[in-house]
Amino acid sequence: MTLMNNKERVDFLRREHTLAREEMRVLFESMTEEDAQYLYQNAAETAREIYGTEVYLRGLIEFTNYCKNDCYYCGIRRSNRSAERYRLGEDVILNCCDNGYRLGFRTFVLQGGEDPFFTDEKICALVSKIKERHPDCAVTLSIGEKPRQSYQAYFDAGADRYLLRHETINPRHYRMLHPVELTIENRRRCLEDLRDIGFQVGCGMMVGCPGQTTDFLLDDLYFMKEFRPHMIGIGPFIPHRCTPFRDEKPGTLTDTLHLLAIIRLMHPRVLLPATTALGTIHPTGRELGILAGANVVMPNLSPADVRGKYLLYDGKICTGDEAAECRRCMELRMEKIGYHVAVSRGDSRV
Ligand code: 5AD
Ligand code: FES
Repeated sequence: MTLMNNKERVDFLRREHTLAREEMRVLFESMTEEDAQYLYQNAAETAREIYGTEVYLRGLIEFTNYCKNDCYYCGIRRSNRSAERYRLGEDVILNCCDNGYRLGFRTFVLQGGEDPFFTDEKICALVSKIKERHPDCAVTLSIGEKPRQSYQAYFDAGADRYLLRHETINPRHYRMLHPVELTIENRRRCLEDLRDIGFQVGCGMMVGCPGQTTDFLLDDLYFMKEFRPHMIGIGPFIPHRCTPFRDEKPGTLTDTLHLLAIIRLMHPRVLLPATTALGTIHPTGRELGILAGANVVMPNLSPADVRGKYLLYDGKICTGDEAAECRRCMELRMEKIGYHVAVSRGDSRV
């Protein structure tokens, strides 16, 4: 039996940064439009108390869409024969960073499939060259599961942060999303190693992915509460037409906004992006994300000619734009809602 109403649940969450599981379940499952507005407002105020009206920029460089994995949800899975594969050369990647630097980016996120062509030596060389040219910038890697020694080598080469979404903490659900060779145990091992080595670590999940239940989402929320990541990446699941999940329903805008806000209240200082996937399911999804407590945006810095090829899901936005256009567009979007993009590394304020 529960004695609170949803406003009281939000107040409690804001004050205590957690909520008993059954209260959280009721909040999530019985939210009215009015409750949601109250939740967003509290989450946005919490973010503003720590980060003001600054939104941090991350320049995303999608440097390879080759992947040895076969995740059922992902458009660049190895079984997708119709994906046109590409890899960016080192010079092209360094150029993207130089261009990004001129545009005010102070964090570069190197993201790619798990591509064996990019050996640890190649990744380390890349990281140290970027840090040499731009010592005032942070380098974030998002290149999947690796042995601990590899993570250590990237860190020693100068990488600051690592994004590796856990996707779902429930082993049965994990198995519904991935082939047997990928396990949540190894994913957890990777996340622990990364944090142990000294990276600022990001985890997260897709909202509304196939098989997800409220219970699984609650498991994810409490797992993250315990893990205390520096960054949390969440966005709606969006089906890709060349994957086994082609006929599945996408995640919704409201569920994603509810979760962003709940996550902000559970982790007041966390770096929380309003993702491209959120901008894909709604024309002002990223703005709504910021107004629900997110504080990071990640415009694309990849060269225009490969953007249309890094397609994890259908309908991805910004595939035809130049970096400078995305940067300007983002500034205007943030200013429209009373925020502004910051020219800074945007480390977590701990
Ligand atoms: N829809 C939304 N997000 C996706 N990702 C992969 N495929 C999809 C999809 N179809 C997310 C995963 C991954 C991140 C890089 O992109 O959560 O960790
Ligand atoms: Fe590449 Fe999943 S298909 S990591």
